Amino acid sequence: MFDNIVGDHIKKIIPYPPGKPIDELYREYGLTDIIKLASNENPFGPSPKAVDAIKNSLINLHRYPDGSSFYLKEAISTHLGVNREEIVIGNGSNELIEFAVKAVACPGFEVISSFPSFLMYSKFVQVSGGKNIVIRLKDFSHDLDEILKNVTDKTKLIFLDNPNNPTGSVFSKAVFSDFMKKLPQNILVVLDEAYMEFVKHGVDTVKGIELFRHDPRIMFIRTFSKVYGLAGLRLGFGIMNEELANLLDRVRQPFNVNSLAQIAGVEAIKDTDHLNKTLQTTWEGIAYFEKELGAMGYKAYPSNTNFILIDIKRDAKTVYEAMLRKGVIIRAMGAYDLKNFIRISIGLSQDNIRCMEGLREVL
Ligand SMILES: Cc1ncc(COP(=O)(O)O)c(C=O)c1O
Repeated sequence: MFDNIVGDHIKKIIPYPPGKPIDELYREYGLTDIIKLASNENPFGPSPKAVDAIKNSLINLHRYPDGSSFYLKEAISTHLGVNREEIVIGNGSNELIEFAVKAVACPGFEVISSFPSFLMYSKFVQVSGGKNIVIRLKDFSHDLDEILKNVTDKTKLIFLDNPNNPTGSVFSKAVFSDFMKKLPQNILVVLDEAYMEFVKHGVDTVKGIELFRHDPRIMFIRTFSKVYGLAGLRLGFGIMNEELANLLDRVRQPFNVNSLAQIAGVEAIKDTDHLNKTLQTTWEGIAYFEKELGAMGYKAYPSNTNFILIDIKRDAKTVYEAMLRKGVIIRAMGAYDLKNFIRISIGLSQDNIRCMEGLREVL
């Protein structure tokens, strides 16, 4: 009955498959102990300072949140050395992706993204009735030359996740600078830096923070869901030219970011101990998996994130299910057209050991 009501562009969207709640998995598989290494979350959880701040503010939940995220913008501004007017806050960095698409949407607009990369870019474009131009990664990295070849006079936006999810690859400063020189002036480039904190010092890669003031076509987005361990609260932000921030802010609902997320964000971004502990554990975990999997003859792709992608040379779904029965949730990458690949989010050292024990048996 909704055929003539809901547009074709909505009907064509493939629904995001929801994962089962962990409690259901305990019941269904008769498990007593599950570790989840599937969604690139922080295995330490949130900063204890953020948790305390949330507890102290629960009493104010009858109030609407601060629609301007005043204190959170102040904290981000201090942390990154940007002006408050250059920041837009979102309900997860997902919402910044949505803002960018909505802000540029017009009849026949085109958006370029890569495949495999974060799946939400194309989803928001579909919702807004735009045309997705999807470029295959080349050697597990963004193919910037091919992206340039596909620019048309309808192209409004290009999404580049740097580091890329799911490969963990980054592109170099020189390659990106060349790309920007060749790109027409009236196209916006969103650098999605959801995993940027995990990139080690000395790695040659582009950072939005160094570029957005020199080139107003560049904006970058960051999240509190990964290194800051606040995925459940939904908090992210974008940094961009002030005029662009003012425009994107018009797309935003007045109270898009809840009060607990704002309060937690202020504390999380200041907690450098928690950040450093998370980074150290992640880097050790990556080295551990690379060594152990390498010894078994499997290659983990060099990762600049908190996850690794592995070619297991057989159907990943079967391996995923076998691991699940052992109480270890990993990600089979079929949805990314990588049917023989699994992605493992780095956990605490004991989680990683248990995951490897499981993989040794299953593989
Ligand atoms: C590349 C990339 N961008 C953005 C996000 C979205 O993060 P958020 O939780 O802030 O919406 C993710 C989450 O997995 C991601 O992998």
